[in-house]
Order: sequence, then C-alpha cells, then structure tokens
Amino acid sequence: MTQTATSALPLDERLERGELVVFERCPFALPAGEDLRFLLARELDGVSKSITLFPASGLMGGHRPESRAEVARLKGLLAEFNREATAWLARALPRYHAAMRLGPLRFRNVEERGRNYDPRLTGALLHVDANSDQAALGDSFLRVFVNINPEQVREWVTSEQLPALLDRWGDRVREPGEGAPAMPTRLRLRLGRALGIGLPAETSYDRLMMRLHFFGKTDPYLQEQAPKTRWVFQPGSAWLVFSDIVSHAVVSGRYAIDQTYLTPAESFRDIERSARAAIERFWAGKTATLPI
Ligand SMILES: [Fe+2]
Repeated sequence: MTQTATSALPLDERLERGELVVFERCPFALPAGEDLRFLLARELDGVSKSITLFPASGLMGGHRPESRAEVARLKGLLAEFNREATAWLARALPRYHAAMRLGPLRFRNVEERGRNYDPRLTGALLHVDANSDQAALGDSFLRVFVNINPEQVREWVTSEQLPALLDRWGDRVREPGEGAPAMPTRLRLRLGRALGIGLPAETSYDRLMMRLHFFGKTDPYLQEQAPKTRWVFQPGSAWLVFSDIVSHAVVSGRYAIDQTYLTPAESFRDIERSARAAIERFWAGKTATLPI
C-alpha cells in the first residue's frame, strides 16, 4: 500500500495496517548545535550495540566511560529527546499514549553497514522485534526513529507482517505441544502487566516473540524471497512503525535515536490487528492473517 493511498487515514489506523509512516521533518524538537556535536562525538563501551537509556528509571548503559559531567550531559540530552518525542506522541496518538509504558531509548552511533555481528544479534537481517531487556507482556512495540545524522541517510528494508509470517511458519515455530498458555500463565501475564513487572522468560508470550525474532533471521523465505520495500530516511527525518508486527532490517546509516513505547493491544483501534491477537490466533491453531 502506498503512502498516498493511506495518508488521509488517521495515524493510528495507518500504523495498525502495518504501514511505516515517515515524517520528512521530525515533528518534534531535536538536539542541535553544540548539543548535537556533543552527541555525535560519543562512543560505545566496546561491548554494546548502542547507548541505551531507560527513561522510566534513568538507567543508562553502553557508553564509553567519561567524566561525570559528560555522562550527565549525555543522559540529559537523551532524556530530553524522550520528553519531546513523548509529548508529541501524546498529541498525535493520544489513544496509545494514554495506555503505553515507556520502553528503552537507543542511540545508535555506529555505522550499520559492514558491522560484523553474530547473526543472531544483527539488525541487518530481516526480523520482527522482540524484547531484549524489558518484558513486552503482550504489548506491541511502537517505535519512533529519528535520523539525527546531519549529512547521511539511513536505509532500511521492510517485508511481510507478523500474521502472514505466522501463517507461513506455522508448526515450525511451535514448540512441541505448544498451545494457548494455561490460565495461571494468562493471569500472571495480566497481573505482571498491571504491576509493570516480569522478566522476558516469565511469560510464554515473550518467549515466543523471542523465538520468532531469531527464527526470522534464519528463514530463507523471509531473507531472500519475501517481497521487500526499500526505505531511504533523509537527515532530520523521523519514522514510526509497530516493529514487532512489520519485519524490517537496517541496511546502512549512523546516528539514529529511537524510543520504544510498549502499547497494549487494548489501546489499538482494532485489537485484532495487535501482535498479541496474532499470537493468540496462532496459539489457538487458527490462521493468523486477517483481512485489513
Ligand atoms: Fe529491529
């Protein structure tokens, strides 16, 4: 579906249809001048893939050790990005904003093309996102990305959506005997969500999403045969997508920031289009694809 065909629709409708929505100019304020130069000069710790801030707790990691003042300035700039993005989200997507939990903010400051990673960890292979350090508990990953590189584009590829992939993969991604989780698990999932607690391994939902994430990276159909769309994101542009629903891969680019919002299925305009609904149909042994 082209952007022109859907751009008259509400933003949440477009996102739920699996569209990647681009803003040629980021719709909220970005770091500029000395602040931007400071950000672009930061380095990784040598182990991490990105600098990560958890805005809810203020914890930050992945950066090269520096003076306290420099670390405080870095954290302050990333926290400011989060505040600006989230204030915009409240205006643009109030239905999601009212229900979402803040996920991690990631500052990706290394050139993506040619990064030599363990294939399980690389974002260069098509995949649907799963949580790595915060349990989804059945919520979807709405992510806002910004290319803060003043000169260089960022390139992506997107491909098929989670329901179609589940249809195709079927029993190949099902653990022996796997079906819908037992009632205690469902209750724990709901309770964990209500309290905002839980580790990835604690819920069958998160375990399955992690399995799908890795399965997709080794699936010849998704990597080689599935239809693909190429994206070129200009300097200063922003884009939004449900990244656990729309498969994607990064091709090139340096200096992007993204903020994840964990968005409950109940806040979707149509709950049947949420990742959780697709997973529940999979568990129930039904076809995962719904007509849009
Ligand atoms: Fe991803």
